[in-house]
Amino acid sequence: MDAIKCLLERRSIRSFTDKKIAKEDLETIVKAAYYAPSGKNRQLWQFTVVQNSDIISSLATCLRIKLGREEGYCFYNPNTVIICSNPRDNEHAIEDCAVALENIFLASHALGIGSVWINQFKGVCDEPEVRAELDKIGVPANHLVHGMAALGYAADDAVRNFEKNPNVVKWVM
Ligand SMILES: Cc1cc2nc3c(=O)[nH]c(=O)nc-3n(C[C@H](O)[C@H](O)[C@H](O)COP(=O)(O)O)c2cc1C
Repeated sequence: MDAIKCLLERRSIRSFTDKKIAKEDLETIVKAAYYAPSGKNRQLWQFTVVQNSDIISSLATCLRIKLGREEGYCFYNPNTVIICSNPRDNEHAIEDCAVALENIFLASHALGIGSVWINQFKGVCDEPEVRAELDKIGVPANHLVHGMAALGYAADDAVRNFEKNPNVVKWVM
């Protein structure tokens, strides 16, 4: 897919089918993540790819209780999540995770896979209950989670928001 078409067409998807994402496609998506730019090219991040539905559900339940979210909250029931974490002392941690996440979203879209940023770990990943869940899946104890991608094939009822504001550009020519 043409790169410009891909980035203009990508929209957040919040309703997924049960279709499994092939390992080969996940490998491409996660490769796109670690090919992203990083501050001082340190590449200190970890991308934890979780396709086990029980573990995804356990992560969501933990955050739902912690954040007081509605019963049944499960990151929109994705097939796979990719947790982006970085050492807490990495001065570029948030920026690195953000650019890697965008690569994940764009690579997913190019492969026909829907995605959305899930921000619920932000600010709570050091809470003991949340950290215990992260420990179970090998997110390093010195890492903070700055974002997570939920991935899956878009369901027929998935809503796409195409409204973008072009009045945010100031030209100085
Ligand atoms: C920093 C950040 C945090 C976000 N967190 C969430 C989130 O927790 N849940 C969610 O459904 N969407 C989340 N989003 C997605 C935005 O709502 C979405 O990008 C925005 O509405 C524009 O829609 P688009 O992605 O379809 O262009 C987040 C996006 C960003 C950049």
